[in-house]
Amino acid sequence: MVAFRRDLHRHPELPFEEIRTTNRIADELDKIGVIYRRTEPTGIIGEIKGGKPGKTVLLRADIDALPVQELNQKIDYKSSIDGKMHACGHDSHTAMLLTAVKVLNQIKDDLTGNIRFVFQPAEEIAQGAKVMIQQGVLDGVDNVFGMHIWSQTPVNKVSCVVGPSFASADLLKIKFKGKGGHGSMPHDTVDAVMVASAFVMNVQSIVSREVDPLEPAVVTIGRMEVGTRFNVIAENAVLEGTVRCFNINVREKIVAAIKRYANQVAAMYRATAEVEYTYGTLPVINEERSALLAQEVITEAFGISSLYNERPTTGGEDFSYYIENIPGAFALLGSGNPEKDTQWAHHHGCFNIDEDAMARGAELYAQYAWAYLNQQAF
Ligand code: NI
Repeated sequence: MVAFRRDLHRHPELPFEEIRTTNRIADELDKIGVIYRRTEPTGIIGEIKGGKPGKTVLLRADIDALPVQELNQKIDYKSSIDGKMHACGHDSHTAMLLTAVKVLNQIKDDLTGNIRFVFQPAEEIAQGAKVMIQQGVLDGVDNVFGMHIWSQTPVNKVSCVVGPSFASADLLKIKFKGKGGHGSMPHDTVDAVMVASAFVMNVQSIVSREVDPLEPAVVTIGRMEVGTRFNVIAENAVLEGTVRCFNINVREKIVAAIKRYANQVAAMYRATAEVEYTYGTLPVINEERSALLAQEVITEAFGISSLYNERPTTGGEDFSYYIENIPGAFALLGSGNPEKDTQWAHHHGCFNIDEDAMARGAELYAQYAWAYLNQQAF
């Protein structure tokens, strides 16, 4: 499992370009004779049919890497491609799920129900899950389980909280149009710099004054493009940002408020506004019974001291689409270990994992599926 992960780590592939990765997984699945199909353009969906009839549980791993330069010089399995890196640990997800599939396949006659598995491409651009769903990954599925290796959680700890785990992550673009002119004659112009600045300062009031203080939310304007020269009054401004929250009602309230702020601020200065709001991932809200089942499995397999309650993160995860209409849960597998220098943030060029966590991850995939299929309550 570790060797397989290191091989993927050496050969990172960006979203929807995971051809070598898909081939490597397929080769391993061919060796054990599991039924699978390749998805377009990359990725794999497979299934282990149990010996006895029952429900179907889906196990998910993502397989893509990031356009990040690896900075870690201390490992001999460093990325061989400049500017590309497994900086989020999806290489380990792939290796862990593959190991779980091998183990579950050995005991398939004893399974009550079926285990579907998906090696999903393009998580980092929040497209892969949708593409897998379009290609039928959820057809006939009763429950979904996934996990992320997590450098912010200590190694040997595993978390699967009930309720919010990851935030919704949306993209926001606003264009303000004024009227350009000479910097010395503002009275003949409508200054887009003024409009954009006023909007940026005011838009933060949405979170502080309109959103319930007990509902976490983020509005960030990360980019502002306005103006051409020191003595020219700008005609246009383009702003880009992101909105994060854990509640889709809060999300709708923020969207409406942003549009109102953009239009009203523009009107105040005689400008016009155009708002493009692109919905990204949904929040990951772990369904209660699924999360509690995962907690039981973690406690039984690794001991109560391993069970950890990681705080929700305002990062996004397209696992949310699998559990939009089907119950399921997403666990965080701790791999942070300062002694091994694996506490770096995800997406950082120094990111790495404590590979000791991987045995637990593979076991958790397998044990969750086993426990789900064998319990009566669902
Ligand atoms: Ni990730």
